[in-house]
Amino acid sequence: MDLRINSFAEYQDKYAQSVHDPEGFWDQIAQTFTWQKPYSKVLQWEFDTPKVKWFEGGKMNISENCLDRHLEERGDKVAIIWEPNEPGDEVIKWTYKELHQRVCQFANALKSQGIKKGDRVVIYMPMIPDLAVALLGCARIGAVHSVVFAGFSASAMADRINDAQAVAVITSDGLNRGAKQIDLKQIVDDALQHCSSVHTVIVKNCLGWKPAMVTGRDVSWEEAVRDQSTDCAPEPMDAEDLFFILYTSGSTGKPKGVVHTCGGYMIYAAYSFQNVFQPEENDVYWCTADIGWITGHSYIVYGPLLSGATSLMFEGVPTYPDAGRFWKVCDKHKVNQFYTAPTAIRALMACGNEHVQGHDLSSLKVLGTVGEPINEEAWNWYHHFIGKEKCPIVDTWFQTETGGIMISGLGAHSPMHATHAGLPLPGIQLVLLDKEGKEIKENEVEGYLCIKFPWPSMIRTTYGDHERCKQVYFSHYKGHYFTGDGAKRDANGLYRIIGRVDDVINVSGHRFGTAEIEDAINTNELVVESAVVGYPHEIKGQSIYAYVICNEAPSNEAEARESIIAVVSEQIGRIAKPEKIQFVSGLPKTRSGKIMRRILRKIAEGEADKLGDTSTLLDPSVVKEVVEGAL
Ligand code: PRX
Repeated sequence: MDLRINSFAEYQDKYAQSVHDPEGFWDQIAQTFTWQKPYSKVLQWEFDTPKVKWFEGGKMNISENCLDRHLEERGDKVAIIWEPNEPGDEVIKWTYKELHQRVCQFANALKSQGIKKGDRVVIYMPMIPDLAVALLGCARIGAVHSVVFAGFSASAMADRINDAQAVAVITSDGLNRGAKQIDLKQIVDDALQHCSSVHTVIVKNCLGWKPAMVTGRDVSWEEAVRDQSTDCAPEPMDAEDLFFILYTSGSTGKPKGVVHTCGGYMIYAAYSFQNVFQPEENDVYWCTADIGWITGHSYIVYGPLLSGATSLMFEGVPTYPDAGRFWKVCDKHKVNQFYTAPTAIRALMACGNEHVQGHDLSSLKVLGTVGEPINEEAWNWYHHFIGKEKCPIVDTWFQTETGGIMISGLGAHSPMHATHAGLPLPGIQLVLLDKEGKEIKENEVEGYLCIKFPWPSMIRTTYGDHERCKQVYFSHYKGHYFTGDGAKRDANGLYRIIGRVDDVINVSGHRFGTAEIEDAINTNELVVESAVVGYPHEIKGQSIYAYVICNEAPSNEAEARESIIAVVSEQIGRIAKPEKIQFVSGLPKTRSGKIMRRILRKIAEGEADKLGDTSTLLDPSVVKEVVEGAL
């Protein structure tokens, strides 16, 4: 079961093998998992359609591979450590045996509620260990989970429920996030006013609030699991059966349901986890992401549990009750691998080094980052003050669509270069393409980051709309998956991600489509039109700048801004709120009516003197006004 590469030479060897004989390479790895029925073909693929099938004919179940497979050897080993929001509250530790029992019980509860294989289940929960049980319970019976981050609004949730035609929602009374509490059940009730597909809502008691329950629809988690057996046979799943849907933003207004399937996702989540983090048997691994994002799916739940590791889950936020919390938790649980986002590192760095002092961080062996480019200053701080210059930093690049980490160092085995994600993992055939779609083969170049060969955990479709998947990812450059990112390759072949080249803004490592935010702003009755761009932000990496045209110039700009923020919070969630809102009377447009975002981006970045060619604009005088009013 140990899939680890143990040296750089071995990495080079494995990489060459994975390109030379991809089927043989992945077959060897897949053989180490539990298959209820062996697969007959490792890979079949065609990018034009796209149609990709891994391990066809094989039957398996991920929850069986996460749990049952470990019971004999590691039944009493801790699978999940849960650190609550309040530092003094009780820590929960569940062994593999206990987690197995809870998952089986919950899986049986799902069945009793009439939920079956193939049904879509939306999960909207706090970062409590039961959230992992909810995912694994769905996996056990073959229900397709779609986790919605518990910071999204009722309206955003309703869109996702309707798109997935979900039959059930799993939630809780409320959640703790730092000093705040959020009424999750109320948000679910509001969302369900607009969803007719949901027949069941399971409500976990988290805060003791006893929310109102809708008869015939709502059931408490505790009641649902009571009297359920702690045995539940894992549903045999085809390797290519739908495993989960995770919604993410693209360049159009509507979030896409990224679909992952069972077999390939399983193999790649485990393989990438073990190689990037290099955990040893008794290590404690901590990823601070929320399970609502792909990082949490692959590197809190599935990768670690498939590998028999101990995964720490944290309910709170980095700055509560103070900016030393992460380091305090590392010290308390003797964390060995620590994985977080550059935005958190920058925020904690800004709070001062005194918060790091006094915490023993000597257990740390590997540090990771994910979600956005890390700047050199934050990288150096992380390396020096947290890793004490002893820990390699793995800067892991991946996407909701790739399912697992594609570019990263492998623990201490790889060359490390600040701000560079590094080399591709074995099996990942990256290329840089120029504007014409021609592969740039040399080093020390920049281009569009694409992938020219399938990997097991790749997106299979966008739920309910295969054409969209084809258009967005496989049509820009024939025969390639297009990531939407630009990247540089240095003299040694290491990749450095520059950022998105499409209309996606990455705020604190979370993706938002400009059109999605504009659509929300435009629902405000004051607003005629808007244009949104990203601009650099010291802590968040990027932040949102909105240019807004109103029916008439607002008499009270502060109030108008508040009401715009309110509609964005209502339609998407507070996480998508624009940091700056500038009221304008016109937007720079081409003669064909297309907004020239390049110009708006430059103005938001404070580089109005570098606007470039504006001669193709319909009305160049608009620019002057926008520049003069810039915030
Ligand atoms: O632009 C890249 C950025 O995040 C995007 C993917 O976002 P999402 O699907 O939400 O997944 C985030 C967590 C994997 C990418 O297209 N990104 C992710 N990791 C990195 C990164 N940019 C630079 N460096 C990274 N390590």
